[in-house]
Amino acid sequence: MDLLSVNSVNKSYGGVIANIDVSLTVPKGKIVGIIGPNGSGKTTLFNSIVGHHPIDSGEIYFNGEEISSLPIPKIARLGMLRTFQQTHIYGKMTCIQNMQISSDIDANWKRVFNPFSKDVDEMVNELLAFVGLYKKRFLLAGDLSFGQQKLLEFAMALMKKPTILLLDEPTAGVNPTLINGLIDRLHQVNEEKGITLLVIEHNMRVVMNLAEHIYCLANGTMLADGKPDEIQNDQRVIDAYLGN
Ligand SMILES: Nc1ncnc2c1ncn2[C@@H]1O[C@H](COP(=O)(O)OP(=O)(O)O)[C@@H](O)[C@H]1O
Ligand SMILES: [Mg+2]
Repeated sequence: MDLLSVNSVNKSYGGVIANIDVSLTVPKGKIVGIIGPNGSGKTTLFNSIVGHHPIDSGEIYFNGEEISSLPIPKIARLGMLRTFQQTHIYGKMTCIQNMQISSDIDANWKRVFNPFSKDVDEMVNELLAFVGLYKKRFLLAGDLSFGQQKLLEFAMALMKKPTILLLDEPTAGVNPTLINGLIDRLHQVNEEKGITLLVIEHNMRVVMNLAEHIYCLANGTMLADGKPDEIQNDQRVIDAYLGN
């Protein structure tokens, strides 16, 4: 069954056409990748899917429900979460506090100053350890490196137990020595927690190791899609990357 299905979506910003007739499907339980040169419309597509902005035309179905006119919190409550290319964390709060407020989709700031349940604390520790940040748990998130902030944001998303997680360039800015570990964790999240993943990734090696099916955007249109080896050998994809 397709968990997510994007049908012929168009999106412009004023005169800038960012997505033209874009379609894709994400089957439940799979890891699907999106590649494409800078400015090809990848992040715009994520923003359309999660309800960050209205689309100009097309349809987006999640779990059989048309969601293209729903606002972000409503879509989040249906089980769809995303992480950002530029991280969205609370820099003046510790890693633990960032995780605690993520335990609730409708996080209420006041809760930060109230005790959290033992279950939440256990989950915080477990997930911080999972992404390799347990030793940094008392540090302010703003004092982490960019790559560590991306790992924290990933762990924060997992606190909310999403059905599908949309990751926007999860390895960008992450120390190369940590990237293989991160790929393993993404596989683990998919296999053990059953979370479907849609991953924008600039690094070809990473996306080849991660996704079972890959879509390639170029100049706002869907240029090609296929299995990793098909995409790797697709002349149109090679040209789009070399031409950039
Ligand atoms: N908020 C915005 N306002 C105006 N133009 C935008 C905005 N966001 C993206 N764009 C433009 O849309 C195009 C696609 O951008 P984006 O979706 O960020 O691509 P990618 O994530 O593939 O690098 C680019 O030309 C970009 O400059
Ligand atoms: Mg982007």
